[in-house]
Order: sequence, then C-alpha cells, then structure tokens
Amino acid sequence: MTTQDTRSAKLTIEDKTYEFPILSGTAGPDVIDIRRLYSDAGVFTFDPGYTSTGSCASSITYIDGDKGELMYRGYPIEQLAEKSHFLEVCYLLLYGELPKAAELEDFEHRVTSHTMLHDQMNWFFRGFRRDAHPMAVVCGLTGAMAAFYHDSTDINDPWQREVATIRLIAKMPTIVAHAYKYSIGQPFIYPRNELDYASNFLSMCFAVPTEDYRVDPILSRAIDRIFTLHADHEQNASTSTVRLASSSGANPFACIGAGVACLWGPAHGGANEACLLMLREIGTKDRIPEFIQRAKDKDDPFRLMGFGHRVYKNFDPRAKVMKQSADEVLGLLGIEDNPTLQVAKELERIALEDEYFIEKKLYPNVDFYSGIILEAIGFPTSMFTPIFALARTVGWISQWKEMLEDPNLRIARPRQLYTGATRRDYVDIENR
Ligand code: CMC
Repeated sequence: MTTQDTRSAKLTIEDKTYEFPILSGTAGPDVIDIRRLYSDAGVFTFDPGYTSTGSCASSITYIDGDKGELMYRGYPIEQLAEKSHFLEVCYLLLYGELPKAAELEDFEHRVTSHTMLHDQMNWFFRGFRRDAHPMAVVCGLTGAMAAFYHDSTDINDPWQREVATIRLIAKMPTIVAHAYKYSIGQPFIYPRNELDYASNFLSMCFAVPTEDYRVDPILSRAIDRIFTLHADHEQNASTSTVRLASSSGANPFACIGAGVACLWGPAHGGANEACLLMLREIGTKDRIPEFIQRAKDKDDPFRLMGFGHRVYKNFDPRAKVMKQSADEVLGLLGIEDNPTLQVAKELERIALEDEYFIEKKLYPNVDFYSGIILEAIGFPTSMFTPIFALARTVGWISQWKEMLEDPNLRIARPRQLYTGATRRDYVDIENR
C-alpha cells in the first residue's frame, strides 16, 4: 500500500521552484515521486548504479539493510528457514499469504505434475559441448522454453501466466539437474513426483539408472534451506533485469532467461562459485593476511568474494542462517574439519576485526557459506550459480506477476546524460 504524505519535496533550479509529492510505503524510507520532473522542469535525475532510485512499488520482499533484516511478505527469513519449506515459501511469494493445508497440497500437486521436460528439450541439451558451463546451458534452456511451451506465452491471459509460473518452478530443477548430468556424461534422470521438491532435485542430480538412490534427509533439508534463503531479494540486478525485460511485454520464459543471464556475473549470483574458488586458492589459514591485504589494495582488482552488499550494511541475515547450516550439515556428515570451512571461518574472523572492512561495513553475504554446503553435498563449483538460479526463479516470477498485474505498467525506459560528440557532418571516406 502506498500513501501520499502531507509533506512535499522542493527543488529549486535558478529562480524556479518545483514541488514533488512524498510517498510512504508500509516500511522503509519514503520516496520522492519525481515522475513529473522532466515534463515540469526539463531535467533528469542521474543515478547510474540506482543507489538512490526506487524503480517500482512492490509488496513481496522487504530488506532493512541497516538492521540486517529480510522478510518475505512480512515473515522474517530466519523463521521461514527454520519452520517452513521451499514450496510453501514459493506459495507465499507468489500469492501473498501462507497457504492453508489444502491450498498447499493443491499447489504441490500442480508443481510436481509439471516436472518433466518436453522430450524434445532433452535433445536440445545435446547441441551443447559437454564442457560448457552449466549456466550457459541453463540460460539457453530457460529461454528455449518459449519454443517448447508456446501455449503459455500470452502474458495478457491470466491462465497462461499461471501455467507459465508453475512450469518454470517445476521444470527449473529438471533443467539444472540435466545440465549437470550432461556435463559429467551421465544419462538424464527423470523427476520422481513422489519426492519432495528438494529430494527430487538431489535424485535427478545424483541418482544413476543402474542403482537405487536413497535421498539423505540431511542433504535434502540443507538444499531446501538454500532454496528458501535465495528465493527472493527485492529489486536486485537480476530481478530488475526480469522486470525491465517484461516491461516490453516479452514472454515469461524470455524474461526469466534474461534474469538467469544477469545472475551469472561474479558481483551477483556468480559470487558463490567465485567465493569457493577463492577459499580454495587461499588454502590454508596462514595465507589469509596476504589476501586481506590484496582486498584492501586499491591497485589490485581482487575483492573478497562473498563479502559486501549494496543494501546490507550491518550483516546479511541469510549469511547467519547459512553459516549455522554449514556447521550443522558438515557436523552431521562428520566432516566438520573441512579445510575450506576452517579457512572461511578464520577469514571471516580476521576481516570482521579489520579496520578497512569495519569502516566500509563489509560483512559476509549469503554466498560466503553456501558454496561450502553445496560442495559438501557433492556439487562441483560450476553448479553453484545454476542452483541459485533455480531457487531465485520463484522470486523472479513473483515480481514479474506483480508487475503485470499493476495497472500502471509502462515500458521501462531510463534516460541518460549524453557525453558524446555533438552534431557534426558526415565525412566521405577519402577525406577522413
Ligand atoms: N572486498 C574488498 N573491498 C570491497 C568489497 C569486497 N568484497 N566489496 C566492496 N568493497 C569496497 C570497494 O572497493 C569500495 O571501496 P571504496 O569506497 O574505497 O572505493 C567500497 O567497499 C564500496 O564498494 P562498491 O563496489 O561501491 O559497493 P557496491 O554496493 O557497488 O557493491 C557488491 C556491492 C556486492 C557488488 C560488492 O560488495 C562486491 O563486489 N562483493 C563481492 C562479490 C559478492 O560477494 N557478491 C555477492 C553479493 S550477495 C548475493 C547476490 O546479490 O547475488
């Protein structure tokens, strides 16, 4: 819900003053509504990294970066990670409320009965090189869903929107698991609809046709929690990409494919892979000071991966749960002396006491510990970001759905501060 304040913001340019309304949401900083700025004053705002720009109104996820708070539809992430499970969280994000038992049963049934891929899609994988990064494969396959499920691409039809939503949540684990199987040269394992969402994903990744596979409930719980912690994070880069793509009316599969592409970067979802590679490169505790020094050196592009966040300036609440989960999972698996976990803990301890990190408010983020859990489960580093994409799909679709249901939807079209050549006449090639 948005309310207009009695206060207003005034902007004076030379001798003219312009007045803009102040809008309040239900939590978080107020915003100055500058939609009429250009038409009234003939100027744009300039905010390249969007550090002070709200791009939409949304009622899905709330982050208080100073308090280190994250809530889905008002429910704190810590409570959801402890008491809920991923498909219930999906329902909550998509429809706004926790489901009643019958609603959850119906939703779970709808998701689990759409887990199989169109058989032709299985052939589509075979066009990729076996050594392709699974994110490249997932990017391609997600966008390609528009070709295989053309009957749910009409964004103006609420029924088709709902079918596309369910298909994406249901089929993303199959795509990600198949991308993994393809990369290691093993046959695809079909989904098993009697399993819960997380167990089914593990089965598709680790079962082989020649043997029975029993899903370890510890691992299933751990991966389900990773899904929950990554499910949504308001207007981050990939979500904003999905919104930008869908503002043009593009179909849902193309839009989610755009989100996957954006997530891949190491400053965003690619950080989990980069972080584990970094921890392995550090290798032993005695080498930590050298890497801390490099992270502080302005002339060295190296950054501590899994550290820092645009919004969290206290701590990332997801990292707290993830750290606890890493301890639990590795303990239950009897590998608590895992050298990567030991390096991670020591690196965190040293960084949190370092003046540079304190002053810049740099804390471990969600990606700092997630890779350690995923590695303990048995995933190679190249699978970390695809798993993030799988989990974030529900967030992207919830935001996509919210946006399309908004009567004020307009194509997103930022403006620019032009710094190029001013008008000049074309010069024939022989005279240049
Ligand atoms: N290591 C060392 N210095 C850092 C780090 C880091 N990880 N992160 C930020 N800084 C410094 C940076 O050099 C800058 O210093 P100065 O003011 O002297 O120029 C200052 O802190 C602010 O950094 P920024 O790049 O302006 O901050 P940002 O809000 O634009 O970037 C970030 C946020 C997450 C991209 C950045 O902290 C980073 O690159 N972290 C490492 C990658 C990472 O872990 N990403 C995962 C983010 S959480 C999951 C997700 O969203 O997908």
